[in-house]
Formats: sequence, structure tokens, C-alpha cells
Amino acid sequence: MKLFKQLKLALAALFLLTALSGCTEQLNDWEQVSPKEKIVIKFSHVVSEDTPKGLAAKRFADLVNHRTGGRVEVQVFPNSTLYRDGEEIQALLSGAVQIIAPSTSKLGDMFPRWQIFDMPYAFESFADINRSMEGKIGSSLYEDLEKGGIQPLAFWYNGFKQITSRERPIIHPNDFKDLRFRIMINSAILEEQFSRLGAIPVKMQFNEVYQALSSSAIDGQENTTSNIVSQKFYETQPYLTVSNHGFLGYSVITSQDFWSELPPDVRNIIQETMKEVSLWEMEQASIINNRDMEKLRNSGKIEIHVQTPVEREEWKNALKSVDKKLIEIAGPDLAGEIINKTGQ
Ligand code: LMR
Repeated sequence: MKLFKQLKLALAALFLLTALSGCTEQLNDWEQVSPKEKIVIKFSHVVSEDTPKGLAAKRFADLVNHRTGGRVEVQVFPNSTLYRDGEEIQALLSGAVQIIAPSTSKLGDMFPRWQIFDMPYAFESFADINRSMEGKIGSSLYEDLEKGGIQPLAFWYNGFKQITSRERPIIHPNDFKDLRFRIMINSAILEEQFSRLGAIPVKMQFNEVYQALSSSAIDGQENTTSNIVSQKFYETQPYLTVSNHGFLGYSVITSQDFWSELPPDVRNIIQETMKEVSLWEMEQASIINNRDMEKLRNSGKIEIHVQTPVEREEWKNALKSVDKKLIEIAGPDLAGEIINKTGQ
């Protein structure tokens, strides 16, 4: 009887331990890892923590740290605290950081074909983008990265971009005339988009946008609601148009040099965790952007206009000739895939 009681107690303790650890893949104990054995992964990004990318980076770090029992330590540096736009890719290739997640537009200098995601009105939904990434388009883009010494780890979503402005509501293409709009660095397609609309595109690093809006150095910008809220852009931008005209997403990458030196079991944990976190991230992206749209509506600080189907057609017509730029940049085959989609 006493033995039975002891057995029951031991089983209960085992159950509790498993439940607390939350997973069974843990390699060994944090305490047992000597500093020499530890693999440090610096994950640098430019947005706030309370955004789809910020939260996913943190979740990925916590899970990998836990699952490797501390053998791997992923350290996340948000808000451009370590490297800013324009510095991140070099920092990755030189080994100063090990993971970055730039928006696809920011890969545009080194890997021009990634600019397909900047094409206005090319993608309808996350499911549409997911299909493209899992098919011919995705494999061509990943091939480009691999040829450039980069190991792709995942594709993360933020959402569809909206327009904010200071001078006037932006309803028709004419409303853009002569206004200065910030665009992300490295994208000739975004430059073309705003030029076609009659605006003046201004390339600018993400961490400089708030200041530029506050000082009226620029009149407006395009972004997802999660970035508009977390960066407080709405404080100086009284007008927002829900246009969903473009997509903002991220390529989560490491360098092939770093990747090839990792032990296979660590690579495996990173890959599996990245897969799991990416599914979670895609769900969170919609939740957070919807939540932040509600925050904007409730803030009383910004007038929100939802684009009508007729206005959407007006914008699409004004942007038709961006197709030519895409063919120049991505070549007729890949550009053709995207242009056929926009014509639908
Ligand atoms: C931007 O520069 O507006 C975005 O790419 C920032 C980000 O990483 O979401």
C-alpha cells in the first residue's frame, strides 16, 4: 500500500514537471551550459514590441531559449536599438547579428525581385500571399536570397497599408498632388507608386518617420495600423484613408555562414520553432491590426475615410503604369505573374 502511494506521488510529480516545462524537447538545463558552449543569436528589428513582428520575435526567442535548455540564447533588439534600416543586412552578413526580419521592400536593393510585394493592389489577402510564397513566386525569391549568401527562415505578415496625411483627406488620386510622402528605403516600385499619384516620394528610415511627420518635413506616409499606432504617427496626422493598397510583410533571414556552423539539432529546433511561431504570427497580425484600427477610431484624433470600390478603381487606374517599372525590375516572367493577378 505504501509502495502504491509512493508510486502515485512520483507519477503526480512527473506530470507536474512535464506540464510546467510545456514541452519535452528541452535539451539540457540552463545552469549546466558553460558560457563557452552557449550560442548567442542576436535578433535585430526596427518596430516596437507590441506589433506582430515584435511579439513574434519575442515568442521565438523565449521558445528557443527554453527548448534548448539555455544552450542557445536568442536576444531580441527591437526599435532599431542595435541596427537601423539600411544597416541591418550588412550587420547580418558581417556576423554582427544573426537574425533580422526586414520588410520585403528593404531587400529591394540587393534582391530587386522582392519588390513584387510593393506592387499596389496586387494581393487581396494573406491567403493570396501565402499561395504565392508557396508556389513559383516564392521559390524564385528564395533562390535569389540563397545566391546572395542568405538563409531564409520564415515569411512573416504585418498587413495591408493605409495612407495618413496632414494637409487634407486623401480620397481621389488628385489629392496626392505635390504632397511629400515617406516611403521605405530600397524600393523603386514605391517611388513609382507615389510619383504616379502626383506626390513626391521621400525615402526615409523607419526610426526617423515620427520626427519628420512632427516637424512637417513630410506630409504623410503609408503603413499598417499596427505601425501607425505603435509609432504614434496618428498624433500628427489628422487624416487616414483605409485603402489597403499595398502589403507589408517580412522576410526572416539569417546568413548562410552562421547557419552552416550551427549543430544540426539546434538548426532543427530553430526551424521547427520558426514554423510554429510563423503560424501564430500570421493570426496575430490580423488581430493586432484590427485592434489598432479600433484604437485609432476611438482616439478621436484622426478622421478615417474608408475607400469605396469606385475610388479603388480610380487609384488602380492612376497606378496602372507601375506595371512597366515592375517588368524592368523583376523581368517579364515574374512580373507577368503579378500583373495577371492585378488585372483580375
Ligand atoms: C516601415 O519602414 O515602415 C516598416 O518596414 C517597418 C516595419 O518593419 O514594419
